[in-house]
Amino acid sequence: MTDKGLEGDGPAIDVRGLSKSFGPLTALDSVDLTIPRGAVFGLLGPNGAGKTTTVRILNGVLDPTSVTKIDVLGHDLRREAEAVRPQVGVQTDTNLYERLSARENLSAFGRLYGMDTPSSRSRADELLEMFGLTDRGAERVERFSKGMKQKLLIARALVAHPRLVYLDEPTAGLDPEASHELMTYITRVSREAHTTFFITSHRLDEMEGVCTAVAVLDDGRIRASGPPEQVAREAVPRVRVRVTPRVGSDMTAGDLTTLPGVKEILSLDGAFAVDLVREDAVPSFLRAVVALPFDLLGVAEEPPTLQEAYLALVGNHPARADGQVV
Ligand SMILES: Nc1ncnc2c1ncn2[C@@H]1O[C@H](COP(=O)(O)OP(=O)(O)OP(=O)(O)O)[C@@H](O)[C@H]1O
Ligand SMILES: [Mg+2]
Repeated sequence: MTDKGLEGDGPAIDVRGLSKSFGPLTALDSVDLTIPRGAVFGLLGPNGAGKTTTVRILNGVLDPTSVTKIDVLGHDLRREAEAVRPQVGVQTDTNLYERLSARENLSAFGRLYGMDTPSSRSRADELLEMFGLTDRGAERVERFSKGMKQKLLIARALVAHPRLVYLDEPTAGLDPEASHELMTYITRVSREAHTTFFITSHRLDEMEGVCTAVAVLDDGRIRASGPPEQVAREAVPRVRVRVTPRVGSDMTAGDLTTLPGVKEILSLDGAFAVDLVREDAVPSFLRAVVALPFDLLGVAEEPPTLQEAYLALVGNHPARADGQVV
């Protein structure tokens, strides 16, 4: 068998120079993306950044204006879209069968993807259970709440055990518990089944710790990409150490200001966030802080968060003459 898509070598998605215009509007401007198999990839960006447009193109429902390379699961999407489609699950925001039950919606979809009736039914039950919809599984979807429909759309994308799953703002409308469960499921399935997830979101708090790779898209351009920790460190050039004194300690920011390498100190709920001048200032600072006559509960280097990186990268570009941001 020579089907590269099933054998799983090479990246899940490899795109070069992807551009899309809608009339005069450039929605995507020479986007490059390489997503390894089994990754949980987060495409992050503000409203109108081009996230949904990217998903629609990769999913084959929208043609790019120009592209140099667009390989999905080892197939050139321009020539072999038919080979890719059966291996892919997509959560779009529309078209459930309103008059069918939740269970029927899922099992019908499973059959559409070539599953036999018993397996599509048992898979439907498994997913209903996972999304807490078992009790409502026999009910017509037209009576479902917005969040329940959203859960069903995500479940539907997962029915046929796809190799690659596109989820466009999956947690929009989900309660915190359901969002958490979804993220836990995504982490597990990516590890166990080597499924690749392509998730768009602005919920950085939810993406943090789940994504193994991210790209920040703004105004149609990739501003940064890579493992989230790396993106955060490159976008936020600060070195911070959190010093947590024991409760009731009379340590003040003044006790820290004169230590070597200190640039700035922020007091936060019983702890101090100490920004240092450079990374190589950390060891001598740590030695000095533990030598102070205060009991400490913890001293730890605090890497920048994805949220901080996002805020540093997005919407922060010099204005072009035509008023667009570059
Ligand atoms: N069919 C279309 N016709 C014209 N313009 C479009 C079309 N689809 C998208 N656009 C434009 O392309 C840009 C990117 O839109 P897109 O939907 O990809 O953004 P997004 O990142 O998904 O935003 P959101 O977070 O709001 O969902 C926007 O300026 C949008 O208005
Ligand atoms: Mg969108």
